[in-house]
Amino acid sequence: MPLLEVDQLSIGYDTSDGYLSAVSDVSFSLEKGKSLGFVGESGCGKTTIGMALMGLLPPNGSVRSGRILFKEENLLGKSDEAMRQIRWNEIAMIFQAAMNALNPVHRVGDQIAEAILAHRPGVSKDEARHQVKALFEMVGIPKNRMKDYPHQYSGGMKQRAIIAMAMALRPKLIIADEPTTALDVIVQDQILQEAKRLQETLDISMIYISHDISVVAETCHDIGVLYGGQLVEYGSRESVLESPFHPYTKMLLSSFLTVSTKRADVVIVPGDTPNLINPLPGCRFCERCSYYEASCKLKALQYVTISPTHKVLCSRCG
Ligand SMILES: Nc1ncnc2c1ncn2[C@@H]1O[C@H](COP(=O)(O)OP(=O)(O)O)[C@@H](O)[C@H]1O
Ligand SMILES: [Mg+2]
Repeated sequence: MPLLEVDQLSIGYDTSDGYLSAVSDVSFSLEKGKSLGFVGESGCGKTTIGMALMGLLPPNGSVRSGRILFKEENLLGKSDEAMRQIRWNEIAMIFQAAMNALNPVHRVGDQIAEAILAHRPGVSKDEARHQVKALFEMVGIPKNRMKDYPHQYSGGMKQRAIIAMAMALRPKLIIADEPTTALDVIVQDQILQEAKRLQETLDISMIYISHDISVVAETCHDIGVLYGGQLVEYGSRESVLESPFHPYTKMLLSSFLTVSTKRADVVIVPGDTPNLINPLPGCRFCERCSYYEASCKLKALQYVTISPTHKVLCSRCG
């Protein structure tokens, strides 16, 4: 059994304009020690999926249907108290823009020690400090910087500290929401490489969330491409990168690949993200798609299985 298996998950928000379908029938799974990357433009539902896995949807958000099986148990049936036990201990999340959320008036090392003490009542202060030292070493921050305040850290170091915080209770799964977006490319690359090394040596499962396909291409075993709340393409890294089927995936890749461009047929179509209050029954990408034909809008979509490790939601592919 995979560590995490998500089955036909649909999530929405009550808004003043009506019910907004943020995530529609999304299914995926993640093995222990593996990594999965979700990629797609702003508003496609990435953060909503992460928040649902953590049991932290805002009050106007709710899961409409589906299952989230973590270690074979459906998290959606759990009480608040049971979710509190799982959150941070078993599943941790690096929130979008988290590095700006370090408390400016506390030393970075103390903040992580506090998090350990809050969740592990049996641990002494000395022991917590010792654990922070080990975490700093793991994420590549010199021990002598434990006593610094956040403003004394560079952006890259802040992000390393946030990764250390997420790892503090040794979760089995870490969800990293746009973990390197605020960093310059070189620092981003270093951090992703180290996160990958940690994930492999500690056998943690990771979900990376990014609007940038190069981030998930660099780090993940599997890739899920989201558009308008739907998982339009999902498969192993190699399969999705080397033989993308969905026109939207090709579009994302064409803006990233410059060297091996076998994708001269791709036209980048500008356009808005789809209306999620009253979504179309058919393809939500159709208005921006260069392969569009009239039926795309109307036909309910079904996944086309390209291979056992690759599926695509497009009536014109396959
Ligand atoms: N609290 C909320 N209330 C209403 N709509 C929301 C809320 N949070 C997100 N949404 C909407 O849900 C959709 C998905 O958002 P989100 O998951 O944040 O996307 P992403 O992380 O991919 O940018 C968007 O249309 C967004 O406007
Ligand atoms: Mg987001």
